[in-house]
Order: sequence, then structure tokens, then C-alpha cells
Amino acid sequence: MSTIAVIGGTGMDAWPGLEVKRRLEVPTPYGNTSAPLLQGRIYDCDAIFLARHGEGHKIPPHSINYRANLWALREVGVTHVIGIGAVGAIARWFEPGALAVPSDIIDYTWGRAHTYSDGGAGSQLQHIEFNAPYAASVRSVLLESAQLAGLSAHDGGVHGVTQGPRLESPAEVRRMRQDGCDMIGMTGMPEAALAAELELAYGCLAVSVNWAAGIGSGDIHGEIHRSIEIGMSRVRSVLERALPALIGGLQVVE
Ligand code: HPA
Repeated sequence: MSTIAVIGGTGMDAWPGLEVKRRLEVPTPYGNTSAPLLQGRIYDCDAIFLARHGEGHKIPPHSINYRANLWALREVGVTHVIGIGAVGAIARWFEPGALAVPSDIIDYTWGRAHTYSDGGAGSQLQHIEFNAPYAASVRSVLLESAQLAGLSAHDGGVHGVTQGPRLESPAEVRRMRQDGCDMIGMTGMPEAALAAELELAYGCLAVSVNWAAGIGSGDIHGEIHRSIEIGMSRVRSVLERALPALIGGLQVVE
């Protein structure tokens, strides 16, 4: 039996349909989480929701206390985490509104508290493997759940994570494309690496909300405005199938 958490980001600061039973303020050695963990019921399942940017979407990507967030989730017994990420698309296959389940990451962030292996009292120096930044178990459930929901979610893709909060310049996007990135977000790291340090099974459900700078119409905020609602409604449809599947031992149920 697993305990599932969903970390919602831009466009998903709340989880419509979640019947909140408890608001958990979990103390951690790293300080406070972005928001109380919302423990409740949805789709006939127990689940926990955490608003990555805090209630009211106030915390910028570089100021999120990723260490406290992941630590607190593990503390309350979470084993599987689905991180929802609104991203800008570089790859042509990823038009705004579409979903993807990325398979790899490039970290362009800097200055974030990005590890529990920080030499502090009681911390163990750990060189975790990051061969598979996203857990195969969570990825496959997300992909199968999208299919059952009648949606297509792209299988794979490289998630480039930038510092933000500003968007990129076209030259930065060209460089990222040359590096192999298919999409750009601002919060995927250190979230994925910290989850790996804590041995949480972590997967990302990415929603394209705009073409990255220099690729689309140039009206990035307009694209976000037009695509975020449909993208997030697709995310909810995937979660509706993925939650019972993860809880039921990774068997996707119709
Ligand atoms: N760049 C970085 N992060 C983002 C973008 C983008 O274009 N869109 C949504 N999050």
C-alpha cells in the first residue's frame, strides 16, 4: 500500500475535488513547507496535496523550500510523489495544452538548497545515482492513466530547469535545445533529486503551457492564458486514474 502525494505548481495551487480532512503543519529540520500538507480523499482514494508555491501562489521558484517539502512528505508516510509542472515547450511535439511524462533532466538552477548531504550535523555524504531521475513505476502509471483517460501524454523528454522567475531569452532557449532539452520549467530541480535522496518514487507530469522564447508567436503570457485551463483539466483526468493505480499496487484500473 502506498501513500501518494501530488505537488501542484503554477495552474494547480489547489486540487479541485479534494475533500480535505486535515491540514498538516509538519516541522522539519529545514524549516517550513510551502504550505500545510492537505490530507484528504479524492477519487475514492487517500491523498496528500502540497501547493509548491504556497497558498495564494506567492513563493517564487528559487525561494521554495524544496528540502522541507520533500522531508515533510516522507515524514507523514508518503512513498510516491507526482510533481505537476507547467512548462514551456521547446520540442515541436509538445504544443501548448499537451501532456508529457519526462524521462530526464538538466539542472540549470543555482544557489538553491539542493541536497540533504550538506555536511551538516548528522548528515551522511551520499552520492545518489541519478541514472533515472524519474521513477519508472510512477512514469508508467502516468502514461497508462493518460491512455485510459483518452489523452495522449508524450513518453519521455528532457526537462530543463531554469532559475526563474523570469522567462528565458531566445538565445538561452537555443542553447537549451542544443543541450537536448525538450521543455523548460523552473521547479523540477532540486525537487526530483531530493526525492531520490529520500528514496521517494517521484514522477513528473508536465503540461506545456507555452512555446519557449523565440519559438512561438512571441506572446508567451497569452499562450499561457489560453492553454493552462485545458492543460490542468487533462492533468486532473490523468490523476483520477493514476491515484487508484498507485494505491492498488501499480495496477492501472479502468
Ligand atoms: N520557461 C520556464 N518555465 C516555464 C515556462 C517557460 O517558458 N513556461 C512555464 N514555465
